[in-house]
Amino acid sequence: MSVALIWAEARGGVIGQGGGIPWHLPEDLAHFRELTCGSTVVMGRKTWDSLPERFRPLPGRRNIVVTRDAEWTAEGAQVAHSLEAALGTGADETVWVIGGGDIYRQALGTADRIEITEVDLDPVGDTRAPEVGEGWARSQDPVDGFHESKSGIQYRFVTLTRDEPAAGQR
Ligand SMILES: NC(=O)c1ccc[n+]([C@@H]2O[C@H](COP(=O)([O-])OP(=O)(O)OC[C@H]3O[C@@H](n4cnc5c(N)ncnc54)[C@H](OP(=O)(O)O)[C@@H]3O)[C@@H](O)[C@H]2O)c1
Repeated sequence: MSVALIWAEARGGVIGQGGGIPWHLPEDLAHFRELTCGSTVVMGRKTWDSLPERFRPLPGRRNIVVTRDAEWTAEGAQVAHSLEAALGTGADETVWVIGGGDIYRQALGTADRIEITEVDLDPVGDTRAPEVGEGWARSQDPVDGFHESKSGIQYRFVTLTRDEPAAGQR
């Protein structure tokens, strides 16, 4: 099993504001769907809460929600009370960690791949992506510059893969 993280970040690493994402980028939602469909997705309870009700559970994916609240339940969500438990439940080839900032930070050490959509905006934000640090090979689409969304936003898809296997996979 491999652990992949996926997020969209604006300049300065902003990924969230006020319990939501401070932009609308349909091409990124399609990219997210394409990569994660058919797999297990792991998210923090706050990210679950941030999803519009009509989109949860995320269809076509096993939804695992991490919470410390022993009483928490939600229709369509499988509950885990630690990140280790959440990541250990998948027999899938790839388990996708889909947020938010708290969960990304904790999962980074076990990840061997990160898919980042870089969004060329500078919004106010209260949640940031973790610093990924050294030891990652980077490729991007497009190779130069950005795509332009039909909404006018500039964005590009970045893939980071570990130079060395992640912790626990050596
Ligand atoms: N731009 C993007 O790609 C993207 C993607 C996802 C989310 N977001 C944004 O990110 C923000 C939410 O991120 P966040 O950092 O505030 O919260 P989060 O990571 O989504 O969830 C945090 C919650 O997860 C649970 N949790 C965390 N660590 C745990 C552990 N080790 N064991 C058990 N439970 C644990 C706790 O839930 P309890 O409090 O229930 O115990 C904690 O309050 C929102 O604004 C959302 O829109 C952006």
